[in-house]
Amino acid sequence: MASADQIRLLLVEDVPQVAQYVRGLLNAQSQVRLVDIVADGTQVPTRISEHRPDVVVVDALLQGRLRGMQLVKQLHDLRIGVPVIVLTVPQNPVNVDPEKGIDEVLSMPFNGYDLITRIAGVHKTAAAATAKGPSRLIVVFAPKGGVGKTTIAFNLGVAASGLGLRTALVDGSIQFGDLRGLLRAPRDAPSMLDLPTDRISESDLADVLWRGPADVDILLAPPRIEMAEMVLVRDVEKTLSLMRRLYDLVIVDTGVGLDELTLALLDQADTILEVVTYDATTIRNTIAMAETFQKIGYPPSKVQYLVNRADSAAGIDPGDLRRALGRDPEYQIRSDGPTVGPTSNQGAPFVTAEPGAGVSKDVIEVARSLLGLKAGAMAASAVKASAKPALAGAR
Ligand SMILES: Nc1ncnc2c1ncn2[C@@H]1O[C@H](COP(=O)(O)OP(=O)(O)OP(=O)(O)O)[C@@H](O)[C@H]1O
Ligand SMILES: [Mg+2]
Repeated sequence: MASADQIRLLLVEDVPQVAQYVRGLLNAQSQVRLVDIVADGTQVPTRISEHRPDVVVVDALLQGRLRGMQLVKQLHDLRIGVPVIVLTVPQNPVNVDPEKGIDEVLSMPFNGYDLITRIAGVHKTAAAATAKGPSRLIVVFAPKGGVGKTTIAFNLGVAASGLGLRTALVDGSIQFGDLRGLLRAPRDAPSMLDLPTDRISESDLADVLWRGPADVDILLAPPRIEMAEMVLVRDVEKTLSLMRRLYDLVIVDTGVGLDELTLALLDQADTILEVVTYDATTIRNTIAMAETFQKIGYPPSKVQYLVNRADSAAGIDPGDLRRALGRDPEYQIRSDGPTVGPTSNQGAPFVTAEPGAGVSKDVIEVARSLLGLKAGAMAASAVKASAKPALAGAR
């Protein structure tokens, strides 16, 4: 079974013999992959964000500072969104209670079949519960260069991460590597060129993504222009499918024009976020793009329009843009050179560096609205995490 289809399990167990027993059972099959065994309950939230398991098994009798059932309660309170199976013994009965974060119970002694069916069962239920939107692929596109695609893709990604979504960015402007440049990623940071050309697995992905500001993982473009032609569209497509499995949201920045890669990215997108500005070229090209999209067969709902620098119409009648789009644009972001310029020059996201600025509020609002999140959803812990200094370091 391809590793991308395996269920990722994190085991919280401080009795080495039990841990070894579970490991042995899992070694004999390929449906479930044990990503880590944690003996200290206090380490579990960190390990969950590191490994992103699909299922967590917790020993009810876990000892230490955080005991088994305290940990289960904590995971529930943290709303980790990962189903929990409690491992126990007949002398210590535990009842299934999803309201308390106990999605399943497994009592000793158990065999491999019991273990796997429980894990697969809670995983299936959890996947069905989130099936309405487990991941979104948003491709930021524009009918003209220089309108703010890269700036918006990056800040939108950081805002979404701050809103609690596991977010990844893709530097789809592969010749110039706009995200690479904006974030000042080191030359030796991993990039699309490091993707294995054959089968891509989750472990390969960890090796090719670069951790940017606010813990946003980034698939970078190659470091030099001429290397762009070495990137295989097929590999990027496969990688995107895998990323969709691991992240709630994947945001792709694109370069100028409609080359083979951009077309492939647009095809895979759930939503094309088309950035427009008030200028005559944009208006002309937007109409041409809309015709092209229609010919390709994209439904009108696949495209959402964002007017960047929406408060500077520069002599253009907003009605002209509206007519070109065929409707009112869905989103607007104001122009704010004093905020956007200096933060971008430092490779920092203005949404967290200058959260009080109007332009930051606009981007956060776009993120909420685009992702269907309610106002006020930004978790305090997430804000703290995303306020970390830019470029905390490559993996
Ligand atoms: N809302 C805004 N207010 C002020 N400046 C902005 C805003 N949005 C973008 N900019 C600035 O506009 C310039 C172009 O932005 P950016 O590089 O993101 O555009 P792009 O569409 O990605 O360009 P390219 O087509 O070259 O990829 C940058 O200097 C950026 O800082
Ligand atoms: Mg760009």
